[in-house]
Amino acid sequence: MNGAIARLGVELAERGYDILVGSGLIADAARHLAPVLKRPRVVIVTDPAVAALHLGAFGASLDAAHIRHDCLVLPAGEATKGFARLGRLLDDLLDLRIDRNTTLVALGGGVIGDIAGFAASIVLRGIDYIQIPTTLLAQVDSSVGGKTAVNTRHGKNLVGAFHQPRLVLADLDALLTLPRRELLAGYAEVVKYGLINDPAFFDWLEAHGPALLAGDKAALGHAVMTSCQAKARIVAADERETGDRALLNLGHTFAHALEAETAYDGELLHGEAVAIGMVLAFQLSARLGLAPAADAARIQGHLEQVGLPTKLPRLGQATALPTPARIVDSMASDKKAGDGQLTFILTRGIGRAFIARDVARDQVSAFLAELCN
Ligand SMILES: NC(=O)c1ccc[n+]([C@@H]2O[C@H](COP(=O)([O-])OP(=O)(O)OC[C@H]3O[C@@H](n4cnc5c(N)ncnc54)[C@H](O)[C@@H]3O)[C@@H](O)[C@H]2O)c1
Ligand SMILES: [Zn+2]
Repeated sequence: MNGAIARLGVELAERGYDILVGSGLIADAARHLAPVLKRPRVVIVTDPAVAALHLGAFGASLDAAHIRHDCLVLPAGEATKGFARLGRLLDDLLDLRIDRNTTLVALGGGVIGDIAGFAASIVLRGIDYIQIPTTLLAQVDSSVGGKTAVNTRHGKNLVGAFHQPRLVLADLDALLTLPRRELLAGYAEVVKYGLINDPAFFDWLEAHGPALLAGDKAALGHAVMTSCQAKARIVAADERETGDRALLNLGHTFAHALEAETAYDGELLHGEAVAIGMVLAFQLSARLGLAPAADAARIQGHLEQVGLPTKLPRLGQATALPTPARIVDSMASDKKAGDGQLTFILTRGIGRAFIARDVARDQVSAFLAELCN
């Protein structure tokens, strides 16, 4: 993609929007924002780490184009995605005397995108917002598709809204300042798209993943674009997750349970939990006789090679750590679970994921118990 900016449309009729992928998008943001702003005024929501690295270039671009901008800086981290912080954010926005033609800009990772997007969906009964995702996870996943949310004590993302952004700017330069652990966590979600329905992309990742993770911008560009295309296609077909959008949850039933058990304390990043969850989903599929065990081994090999966790080494070995029974309970209380049985994304092999709504809890417990031995 050498220097070029790629444009991709999310086809949702009057809620459709463009995703731009390329270098230099933040520094040249005003040019891309101007056509979608109702009037030249934005409020930027960001976190301190992102502000220190990228707000200067963004603000300079807005200044040069005479776009008025205020900025609200929220603490970094998952704890920000809660009611307390949401309430303050809404009041801060109203203090700035925004009106319905003001546009919010989420400049940051998925935490900022989710809370700013949710605030945009409810303040003044809904205003426009733009996503400028600065983590790999946010570029390939959370910034696209219009799911916004905060967490409650009952779990993650349980209160939110579908609110599509007006534009997504995925600037590859932002990824170059990302800590490697965060880059890797986002990479797990990239791999997910190959595993869902694009085996050729998984082949490509096996060959190019290491270069991508070393900061090769052409490889990053290809991976972000391919991932956004995959997500945009699935979202366009099922905006509100009544059907195939659930495929995006591959690895996530296990991941959410693991995250709940580790209380989102940073011990396990979301993408790391997803890496483990995808391997477990393939291993469970193999155990149920649905998928070749060799495919589970192949994806585990790739994820391990790049440095992602793929196992639950300490499962059940200390009282503070999740036991198989607790994980299964946690899965059953996940909002994606149906009555009594567990809904899982299972697979017939790499690139052949499908939605299974009737996985028996016993089978999952037995599978997890076996892993602990
Ligand atoms: N809405 C959706 O569809 C959706 C999908 C997937 C995940 N999510 C949500 O996304 C969140 C996770 O997002 P995340 O992984 O981006 O985490 P994050 O937003 O917490 O960002 C991770 C860390 O990276 C820092 N950072 C961000 N950009 C940086 C940059 N360019 N350079 C240096 N540091 C940078 C941040 O300050 C933060 O400390 C979770 O809350 C999850 O629920 C939402
Ligand atoms: Zn995810």
